[in-house]
Amino acid sequence: MAEQITITAQSKEERYKELYPQVESVLCGETDLIANMANMTAMLKEVFDFLWVGFYLIKGNELVLGPFQGPLACTRIKYGRGVCGTAWQEETTQIVPDVNLFPGHIACSSSSKSEIVLPFHLNNILAGVLDIDSDQLNTFDHTDKKWLESMVKFLDKKL
Ligand code: SME
Repeated sequence: MAEQITITAQSKEERYKELYPQVESVLCGETDLIANMANMTAMLKEVFDFLWVGFYLIKGNELVLGPFQGPLACTRIKYGRGVCGTAWQEETTQIVPDVNLFPGHIACSSSSKSEIVLPFHLNNILAGVLDIDSDQLNTFDHTDKKWLESMVKFLDKKL
C-alpha cells in the first residue's frame, strides 16, 4: 500500500484525476470497510483541505457517525433530517452552496458554509452517506459529485 499520496495539479478536476487511482490503489488492497472509509476521508481531507470529511452509516432509522476527519460531529441523524438525512431519503447527491439556505440543515460546526452529501451502496443496498463540509460558500459542484460518486464505489469492490 502506498504510504503517501502525491498531487501536483492545481485545478479541481486535475486533482481529482490524480487522486482517483491513488484512492483505488489504497482501497483495493484492503477488504475492511471501516479501514477503507477511514483512509478515504484522510485522503480527501489532505488533498482538498476540506473542513470535515466523513461517513454516516445507516443503522435502523438513523444515520450513525462513522470514520471522519475534522472537528467533532453529531453522532446520529434521523431519516429525512438535515442534508445527510435528505440524501438518504431521496437517494441522491445533495449539493448545498450555502448551508444557511438549506431548510433543516444540521450545523455540527458553525464554520461550515457549504456541503455535499452523497449516498453510497454496499452489495447494491444503500448503506450510508459520505458528507463533506467546507468553510467557504459554493465549494462543491458537478466535478466533486462526479468524482466522489465514483470513489465511493471503491468501498463496495471487495464485499
Ligand atoms: N450538516 C449535516 C450534519 C452532519 S455534519 O455536517 C458533519 C446535515 O445537515 O445533515
